[in-house]
Amino acid sequence: MSRQVKVFDTTLRDGEQSPGATMNIAEKLSIAKQLATMNVDIIEAGFAFSSSGDFEAIQTIAQEVEGPTICSLARALPGDIDSAWAALKGGQNIRIHTFISTSDIHLKHQFRLTRDEALKRAVEMVEKAKAYVEDVEFSPMDATRSEENYLCEVLEAVIAAGARTVNIPDTVGYTTPQEFGLLIQTIRKQVSNIDQAVISVHCHNDLGLAVANSLSAISAGAGQVECTINGIGERAGNAALEEVVMALRTRKSFFNADTAIVSEEITKASRLVSNITGMQVQPNKAIVGQNAFAHESGIHQDGLLKEKQTYEIMRPESVGAGKTSIVLGKHSGRHAFKSRLEALGYRPNDEDLNKAFERLKKMAEHKREIFDEDLEALISEEMSRPLEHYKLVSIHTESGSGHKPTAAVELEIGGLAVKKIGHGDGVVDAAYKTIKLMTETLSRLKDYVVKGITGGTDAMGEVRVTLEGPMPNGEDIRVIGHGADTDIIVASVHAYLNALNKLHAAALRKEGGEKKIGLI
Ligand code: KIV
Ligand code: ZN
Repeated sequence: MSRQVKVFDTTLRDGEQSPGATMNIAEKLSIAKQLATMNVDIIEAGFAFSSSGDFEAIQTIAQEVEGPTICSLARALPGDIDSAWAALKGGQNIRIHTFISTSDIHLKHQFRLTRDEALKRAVEMVEKAKAYVEDVEFSPMDATRSEENYLCEVLEAVIAAGARTVNIPDTVGYTTPQEFGLLIQTIRKQVSNIDQAVISVHCHNDLGLAVANSLSAISAGAGQVECTINGIGERAGNAALEEVVMALRTRKSFFNADTAIVSEEITKASRLVSNITGMQVQPNKAIVGQNAFAHESGIHQDGLLKEKQTYEIMRPESVGAGKTSIVLGKHSGRHAFKSRLEALGYRPNDEDLNKAFERLKKMAEHKREIFDEDLEALISEEMSRPLEHYKLVSIHTESGSGHKPTAAVELEIGGLAVKKIGHGDGVVDAAYKTIKLMTETLSRLKDYVVKGITGGTDAMGEVRVTLEGPMPNGEDIRVIGHGADTDIIVASVHAYLNALNKLHAAALRKEGGEKKIGLI
């Protein structure tokens, strides 16, 4: 019988630390519900002290999501622990995850603490968290660059103080599989009370080794793995949940370990996270990339026709891949629309649902077949719409050989109608330049991606733009805007305005005094 490894998903916390991947509460709740459907063991729903948005998201998820344990991150500081508890209380299964660095590099240059001071703080904060909840996790940040004896000493002390999970983070993605496996073995040997805690691992992907390192740690006895959907996260990201889970499932007898994940829900989760965050999945990405199950070579296709096992180590159905359906048409009602969205993992509020439904009806007038992907693009655009300071009233463009591309744009800015005509290199450029002048934005366009969502010339086009813009405190932030429409120019303008509205909303929050606290 294989050992069951717990899956701790941190898409909503470490995943949200990817530049531009900020999510609102409805989006986080949709993802949390999909994670619960997938049967993850623990959901790290955010970092309660860091912002009111995180606090509210954790609170909502703790109240509304059944099944998994809901967790909040907290630095080893009293205010953070109080805030994590305040957000989580009332939830059924809750956990506080507290952390402090243990590497000399971090302690000396960043925390300005001695080893003894850090150890004392770790113990005190585990005790404080323990006064609130039974389930406490402790992480010695930058563990893989910490001195091993000191690391083991800290782990032993926090376990004695009540930590029931000790998580070993490879914070900067520095370790290698063999080395990390040996570290887990050392911890198991050297920490005298280790049997009272689950060893967890949390690997970053700076050297592309996050999944390999996690698997090596599991082979060495780790009982919990921390990961994110599509591997999103700080810098190069975290270990990808789908890769860890499918490696264990496909090679169960080798690892003698498995998880409780319902793997058939993986593709849906991947698409949900990608649509909501705007972070596209590379086509050749393992498990969830568009090409993950596509066989191009004649020899492979020949083999597959004779026997699937020749070139296929997993069935696409086992991860829920390849199921695109024509779902709705002109005569479909709001109820059918809502149920289909729920089946795809979306939990929109009534206003977003109504707006998306109106757009769907319009689309159905000139698009014969409407696919899941069309619905996903529409709803993720509506759900990600912050308060609309900039609204599109109309756009008219002209181009052609010998004709200077021109855009006539009408916007409503803060409730006032503004019109302008401008030119550019192509109609999208003309529209964007005109909008830039109208809105007087200081933001810079960092990325512009167009995707034809489904086949055919009547296909929906989806546009994602990344903007970088200054906040009132001088700091630059990145946001990703979505736009979807059968007209690619309209989709482009929607995406640009969506991103501008996100920057505007973020600037208002900062002016109102909100500061997203970093980890240190
Ligand atoms: O990477 C890291 O060290 C973290 C900790 C807060 C667990 O995310
Ligand atoms: Zn991390």
